[in-house]
Amino acid sequence: VSVFKDESKLSLDYVPPRLPHRDQELKSLASHFRSVIENPGNVAPKVIITGNIGTGKTVLSKRFGEDFQKYAKKKNLNLKYIYANCRESGSFFNVIKNIIIQNYEPTLPQRGYSSKELLNNFMRILDKKNSYALLVLDELEALVKKEGSDPIFSLTRIHETRPPNAPQRISIIFIFREPERERIFKLLDKSTLSTLGHSIINLEKYTSKQLEEILDYRIQEAFKENAVPMETIKLIADLSAPFGDARFAIELCWIAGKIADSQYEPKVLPEHVRKAQMRAHPSLRIEDLRFLSLHEKLLLLAISRQLRGCEDAYASIGDVEETYRVVSEEFNEKPRAHTQIWKYIQSLSATGLISTKVSGKGYRGKTTLIGLYVSSENLEAELSRMLRMRKK
Ligand SMILES: Nc1ncnc2c1ncn2[C@@H]1O[C@H](COP(=O)(O)OP(=O)(O)OP(=O)(O)O)[C@@H](O)[C@H]1O
Ligand SMILES: [Mg+2]
Repeated sequence: VSVFKDESKLSLDYVPPRLPHRDQELKSLASHFRSVIENPGNVAPKVIITGNIGTGKTVLSKRFGEDFQKYAKKKNLNLKYIYANCRESGSFFNVIKNIIIQNYEPTLPQRGYSSKELLNNFMRILDKKNSYALLVLDELEALVKKEGSDPIFSLTRIHETRPPNAPQRISIIFIFREPERERIFKLLDKSTLSTLGHSIINLEKYTSKQLEEILDYRIQEAFKENAVPMETIKLIADLSAPFGDARFAIELCWIAGKIADSQYEPKVLPEHVRKAQMRAHPSLRIEDLRFLSLHEKLLLLAISRQLRGCEDAYASIGDVEETYRVVSEEFNEKPRAHTQIWKYIQSLSATGLISTKVSGKGYRGKTTLIGLYVSSENLEAELSRMLRMRKK
């Protein structure tokens, strides 16, 4: 027996029919793209969706894309919705190549093209078929990190190289995860910015109450009736609310269900959720943290704060020490001296949580640089919670 009715409804690829608390955003997308159907060929809107991790960027764009393609068909417009994950594709060239191969011409010759030529090729294919496309380019920040603003630049200008009366065929949804958007916008030139700047849909973090409703709905699809009591749903929502992250909430719920099954329990109980929580960040083993001394925890928290939201892969030990003093004060602890901090750094690096190396070019003098092997965001959340609990 199992608490689940249909586990696949919790998989990340599944796009649920409804998206509670994203109605406004769906409406907003519809109003941005309505003109594509009313005025085919005359417009090709470009819209940006941003938001923190797990705020529903991917699922929102997929829900909209599928619905929009259906609606276009009903209105006799030959429009295809195409989803591309830029991080998985690895390069702009591959993004465009995969779009063409998977949707239009499986035998496209691949050598000797530049990505610009490929893009023109794509346009010719659409011309030939008298077809339109709604592209969703997800996790675009991965591409910008590697190739700068060129891909966005070419995409926002595809139609400019065409004769004045040629129909505009490619509408686009760009997706950026926060907090990358700001950095990416700095890379863009004024005219690209002004083309894009007016059509941004920002997804706020979900509140605990919203997460509760989302969970309730997703649980109805995936779990047997009454297998997840309200008490459990509320706990999951509360635990996920600091991140506002629906993915974390759903993952927690799924793992808790697995634990309930393994114990032959017919219901998912709060204790299953508490157990699940230890496993919900795949890159971070909570057990690793529990055995750290108080000041190792404070130092590790300082390292994750230092690295979070900054572009550098490493933090210098000087900066870390400074943050560590601030963190110590915050938790009413007297900071340890430099030599002791050194020892902590060494023991932390032995646990495999951090890495250290000596600075090379680009730094004045030699300094020790510290990197993290786990997500700073997860680590910071976890450590803050442990340290707060100790205070009580
Ligand atoms: N409003 C909602 N209703 C139902 N399910 C939702 C909702 N928002 C998000 N989800 C679910 O939460 C999970 C995370 O959503 P999604 O993958 O779209 O987030 P994201 O913003 O793309 O995150 P990331 O920045 O990590 O890519 C998915 O399983 C998705 O189906
Ligand atoms: Mg996503």
